[in-house]
Amino acid sequence: MKTVDFIRMEEGTAQEYAYLDRLEDDYKIGLASRLLEALAKLENSMSGYKVSRLEHSLQSATRAHRAGESEEMVVVALLHDIGDELATYSHSEMAAAILRPFVSEELYWVVKHHGIFQMYYYAHHSGGDRNTREKFIDHPFYETAVRFCHEYDQNCFDPDYDSESLEFFRPMVERVTAHPKAFDAEHQARYGSE
Ligand SMILES: [Fe+2]
Ligand SMILES: [Fe+2]
Repeated sequence: MKTVDFIRMEEGTAQEYAYLDRLEDDYKIGLASRLLEALAKLENSMSGYKVSRLEHSLQSATRAHRAGESEEMVVVALLHDIGDELATYSHSEMAAAILRPFVSEELYWVVKHHGIFQMYYYAHHSGGDRNTREKFIDHPFYETAVRFCHEYDQNCFDPDYDSESLEFFRPMVERVTAHPKAFDAEHQARYGSE
């Protein structure tokens, strides 16, 4: 079969859903490539800075890699701004949602909140509260988020830094996204939590 016969999900058969599951498994394998393609498109975003959003991302991941961070952290650094294009007002949450199945609870939290933590470096210049992040000061992942922004975000706008290429990071993105360890509600309901 090329497509299933049903036009309403309630009419689908077990055989049809098994067929769709097989196709979905193939689609999942392509996730790393789709993420890298989306990242490559950030070459054209973030005008006004000395580097593009893509270069910023590569610089972030390269610094994390050269500092000896875990592969998960390197991939988090690479993808932390991937939501910029479509989630212009909530890019941290979008990146966190993408990474959530593949990274620790701690790194998920760091990505989800990095926008607020990053405000420390600029918000006071336009009347904002640079210390907004302090509302999380008792959170167990607070210091990791502070460190992430300081070492792998606010300092990654240098046009002279010799970042690695997107292809350099492909095997890491493939490995990290190969095995989801946390599942969304839909996935959990279907397969149970492992
Ligand atoms: Fe960001
Ligand atoms: Fe960033």
